[in-house]
Order: sequence, then C-alpha cells, then structure tokens
Amino acid sequence: MASQPSSTEEQYATGRALILAAVAALGGFLFGFDTAVINGTVTAVRAQFEMGSGLTGFVVSSALLGCVAGAYLAGRLADRIGRTRVMVIAAALFFVSAAGSGLAFGPADLIGWRVLGGLGVGAASVIAPAYIAEISPASIRGRLGSLQQLAIVTGIFVALLSDAWLAAIAGGAAEQLWWGMEAWRWMFIAEVIPAAVYGVMALTIPESPRFLVARGDLERARAVLGEVLKTGIDDRIAEIVRTVKRDARSSFRDLLNPGGRGLLPIVWIGVALSVFQQFVGINVIFYYSSTLWQSVGFTESDALTQTVITSVTNIVVTLVAIALIDKIGRRRLLTIGSVGMFLTLGTLAYIFATAPLVQGDEGLEPALGDTQGVIALVAANLFVVFFGISWGPAVWVLLGEMFNNKIRGTALGLAAAAQWLANFAISTSFPAMADVGLGFAYGFYTLFAFLSLVFVLKFVPETKGRQLEDM
Ligand code: GLC
Repeated sequence: MASQPSSTEEQYATGRALILAAVAALGGFLFGFDTAVINGTVTAVRAQFEMGSGLTGFVVSSALLGCVAGAYLAGRLADRIGRTRVMVIAAALFFVSAAGSGLAFGPADLIGWRVLGGLGVGAASVIAPAYIAEISPASIRGRLGSLQQLAIVTGIFVALLSDAWLAAIAGGAAEQLWWGMEAWRWMFIAEVIPAAVYGVMALTIPESPRFLVARGDLERARAVLGEVLKTGIDDRIAEIVRTVKRDARSSFRDLLNPGGRGLLPIVWIGVALSVFQQFVGINVIFYYSSTLWQSVGFTESDALTQTVITSVTNIVVTLVAIALIDKIGRRRLLTIGSVGMFLTLGTLAYIFATAPLVQGDEGLEPALGDTQGVIALVAANLFVVFFGISWGPAVWVLLGEMFNNKIRGTALGLAAAAQWLANFAISTSFPAMADVGLGFAYGFYTLFAFLSLVFVLKFVPETKGRQLEDM
C-alpha cells in the first residue's frame, strides 16, 4: 500500500467539502445576525418599555452571557450527541428567540428571549469551527474554516441592512408600525428565516467522521470521509482510530495536566487567543459604531453610512484572509495583524488623547480637527482591515483545529466561552472607559495588540497543512 500521503499530495473533492463547510458556517451567519440585530432596535425598545440606561445596557449585553453558557455547553454536548444535532438545537434556539424577542411584552421577557438566542450564538460559535475542521481536507482547512468568519461578518452586514430596511418601510423609524407591529419587532422576527434555513440544512449534512469514529461507527465515518477525500481514506481512518480512544467523550478532567494540576498548555493558548481577539476592542467598533463615527465628526446619518462601509470592508478583507491562510499560514497572518492593529490603535489612542476637549451633550468630548478626524477615520478602518485579515478568521480556524480529537469539544467550548466573557467585559466596560477618555480606551486596546504580538511569536503553533491527528 502506498504510504500515507502528506497533506500536500492529498486529493480531495473541493465542491463537496465546500458545501458541508458552508452549511456549518450558516451558524456563523446567525451568530453575526443575532449579535448585530439589536443595534437597530435599541432606541425604540428603550422608549417603548421606558427603560433607563442601565437596563438598556443590560438588555443589549445580556445575550452575551447566554453565549458564554451556550459555547461551553455546546462543546460538551457535541461530544455526546454529535455535531449536527447540536446545530439543529442551535437553530431551534435562534428561531424561538427571534419570535419571542419580536413579541416581547416587556424588558424582563425580552432579556429571557435574548439570552436564549445567546445560547444559540454560543453553540454556533463552537460547532461550526469544530465541524468544519473535522470534515476538511488538511490542505484547505484554513480556507474552509475562514468561511465561518465570512458568514459572521456577512450576518452582521445583513442585520444592519435588514434593520435599516424595516425601519424605512415602516415610515423611517423603528418605533413606527408596519402590519400592526412596531418595526423593531419585525427586526427580531426576521431572524426566523435564516434560523429555519440553518435547521433544515443541518439535517441534510452527514455527521463528522471524527465523531463517528469516536462512536465506533467506522463504516459511516469511511463513507463521509469518502465524500471529501479522494485518496488516503483508509489511512486517515486508521489514524483517527489510533488517536481516538474508544471512549473519546472528553471531560473537563482531560483538559488538565497529568496529576490534575492546571490546564494543559494548549488549552491556555486557546483561551488566550480568544481573549486577545476580543481585548483589541474590535466589537467596540461594531457595537458602538455611531459613538465612534460621531466623535470623528460625522452626523448621525453619515455615521450609518460609515458603519455600512466598515461592514463591507470587513467582508472583503475576510476574502483576502481566505486566499492567504493556507498559503502563508496562521502564525504569519496573526503576526501581520497584530503589528497592524498596534499601529492603527496606537494612532487612534494618540489622536483622541491629544485632541482638545469641548463641552458636548454628555460632558467633555474630544474635538478633532479636520485632519485629525480624517486620520482617525482611516486608522479605524485600517484597524478593521488588519483584524479582518488575521485575528478575526484565524482564531476561529485555530480553535477548530488546534486541539486533538479527544479534547476538541470541551477545549473549544471552554476557549469560546472565554471569548464571549471577554467580549462581554470589553463591550460593557467601553462606556465607562470612554468617560475617562477615548484616548484611554484605545490606549488599553493598543496595549493588548502589542501583547498579542508577543504572545503569537512566543506561543502559537503553526497548524497549516497538518492533519488533525498530528496535533
Ligand atoms: C470575530 C469575533 C467577533 C467579531 C467579528 C467581527 O468573529 O469573534 O466577536 O464580532 O470577528 O469581525
């Protein structure tokens, strides 16, 4: 028998692999849509339910707490009941949450529905990278894994458009009525459509071969691998069998060093990748975009245009990442990204820290001169470019592939849960940090961009082209 083909010689069916990965990535689309849809609704919901700013903030951020729990639980569950079943559960959560949020009676049940959707987002954020990594031929695993990020940023963009469109057809504002209900309600309800598509499509794709082997179902595992690989199928099955013990269900104990003391180094690396991805402040740009664009001198409607531009930029640069990730590798992309983010965030910090302060509606605000405004605008968009070609997609790709078969579900769940906690910390602390000064807030993110560079150079392994069984 020919020797095990290395990934560079492996032959595969790109079309089939692409379809399977794309279905899993629909979960990423819902992840992006669900986290962004709230933006267009928040002012109207606040007015209708007569909420103060604290409660409003909590309505917005509560979903992120659901994400933390959803990510952790989904990792464990995926190792018990399988990857595709978890996708169907996530789709059901999205569906119920969308309908419930749209029909909410008041803040309390709205928070409940949003947390339920958050469970779905958390689950989708874990299951897509895991499934895609597990069905992908090694030589294109980075590209297929990046589809997740492409779907996330497309979901953010479509939610933005859908919110704007629904407000427009209702007469221009989210609180206006359309077909007997306020537009903001329809904004939430719109999500039932992608949720249903995701659920139905998830029923059509086969279970992950790695999960099937762990279950002892070698026949089906061979059949599924045969859909995506043209050569080396038996060798691959033998390798998976070798690395998956009969009872491969991972438990939290498997994440600990022998002797039970502390997490395995690789788990720490996953958690740190997650935390750095959030601590550079990317979601401050997405969740508080109008604050940012107004602070560089835009009016409210121009700020919306700018938000659309940023979202499209993010989609386009993800395509660049897809072209590069299996060629130049994960480490190099992350390194380029960290350097670029450090420079662009540093520029923002410097500009905001040195701008003169003037009295605005909500206290002292930095007043940028024209040139400073342009520089800040360019720097903020370049920051999105650098994030989008590197840390955005590469972290999700790495989290899907860096853990071995035995610990993948639980370790990925833990790392993703850490990411959602970090997201929660950054997005809830931003208003308070901005009160101290935007220069301070961006200075903090600059520091983390710098630390992320040190971290990549010292700790992140290259996984490009390697088989999952060799991790
Ligand atoms: C990544 C992050 C997510 C962020 C998105 C923006 O997917 O995990 O939090 O919103 O990138 O591009």
